[in-house]
Amino acid sequence: MKKRPFIFKCSACGHEEPKWLGRCPECGEWNTLTETAAAGRGGFSGKAGKALPQSFPLSSVDPQEGSRIGSGIAELDRVLGGGIMKRSAVLVGGEPGIGKSTLLLQAAAAAETRGRLLYVSGEESAGQVRMRADRLGIRGDRIEIFCSGRLEDIQTILEAVKPVIIVVDSAQTLHTDEAGLIPGTVNQMKYCSYELISWVKEHDAALFLVAHVTKDGLISGPKSLEHMVDTVLYFEGAASASSEGDCRFLRAAKNRFGSVDEIGIFTMGEKGLSMVEDPSLLFLVRREGAVPAGIAIAAVLEGSRTLLVEIQALAIPAKGSISRVFSDRIDSARVSRIAASLEKHLGLRLSDHDLYVNVAGGIKITEVGVELALAASIYSARTGLPLPAGTAIAGELSLAGEVRPVRRLAGRIKAARSLGFERFLGPPPAEGPGEEAEFAASRTSAGSGELVKDLKGAIKALFS
Ligand code: TYD
Ligand code: MG
Repeated sequence: MKKRPFIFKCSACGHEEPKWLGRCPECGEWNTLTETAAAGRGGFSGKAGKALPQSFPLSSVDPQEGSRIGSGIAELDRVLGGGIMKRSAVLVGGEPGIGKSTLLLQAAAAAETRGRLLYVSGEESAGQVRMRADRLGIRGDRIEIFCSGRLEDIQTILEAVKPVIIVVDSAQTLHTDEAGLIPGTVNQMKYCSYELISWVKEHDAALFLVAHVTKDGLISGPKSLEHMVDTVLYFEGAASASSEGDCRFLRAAKNRFGSVDEIGIFTMGEKGLSMVEDPSLLFLVRREGAVPAGIAIAAVLEGSRTLLVEIQALAIPAKGSISRVFSDRIDSARVSRIAASLEKHLGLRLSDHDLYVNVAGGIKITEVGVELALAASIYSARTGLPLPAGTAIAGELSLAGEVRPVRRLAGRIKAARSLGFERFLGPPPAEGPGEEAEFAASRTSAGSGELVKDLKGAIKALFS
């Protein structure tokens, strides 16, 4: 039998280190690191790399490996799949100025660990980061700051500080003597990122890599890091429909440790990013008096939560010989299909009109349950008839003009009611014991939804 490599494990928190330390960098306890066989270290045998590769029974692997650390920011935890996974690397992309540095500084300050946090800034001076920290009300005793993008220097600091969470702001400023001279080239960025990712995998830490992405999205650089990291988050923004501040949305494009359906919703204010008690308030416009034509309220699902959002449509005679659809919050193909359905099943002439569609608050809606509300808003825009006030709508539409059941109907009705919508128009509940029972239960409470089976019936119910 070959001798297995040994590691040092903290008896208080389970944290692992390749070398013995007097004090656990994770929980701060003294003299708790004890030598144990490194079962479960697959692939990584440390820099020495001398030991022969070895496999071991899956059942012998410690499932503790890769446990999570709360980021202290619920919306970030939600998108990550329940907290920051140790030994993982997270790429945080977004346009310059969207709030990436702010988000990660807030997360570093709030992270639920007693370990040390390292903020590596290759873009801003220590003084500038301190100014931001002050503005955010962060004391920053726990955060070590290091301003350089040189890999060799960062590695020296990593060995000295042994952080549990590392933020590198940004990947584009990383460079090394090993890979040519110009910082920011793709090779430099990939080489350095790989080295840092390897470090966190070996040291039970987590890495956040910031990457700037330009307006048209995917520039070649950060895109080439996506396959190297475990999780890819994109931070996007829009002006909110209310006065709470500008909306910011955090979405996962890839997540090895959780779903990619969840989004994090924030507002950017004077004191940084904050969470919103009820995000629907960001997507509903408060109005005195009548609702103008072209507006419908949809009850949609975003991951595990239900949102009420205002869909706005405008139809004007086509400027060119072919009509066009302008819609960047709801997929244009979906808008065209719904318009075709309205034309076919209700005889509403849209093929000679240009259509503009928007969602208040700038959130992108991809869930099918938005379709009936979208149809209602286009119908209203084209005919000039406003929808009745206080009505929320959900439902998927088939090409044949049927209103199809949607998931979690009862939850949507409940969310609409809690925000003061008196009327709810939607499909019958989906088949299946869960959905039907939940719906039946929601019916017993005062006032439930009006159920419609087809587009024609829905439009009739809304506009007559
Ligand atoms: P920043 O985090 O520097 O963006 P990124 O790292 O993605 O480039 O955020 C910069 C913007 O956020 C800047 O326009 C100022 C604004 N901001 C606030 O509105 N409130 C705040 O508390 C902070 C720190 C920044
Ligand atoms: Mg920044």
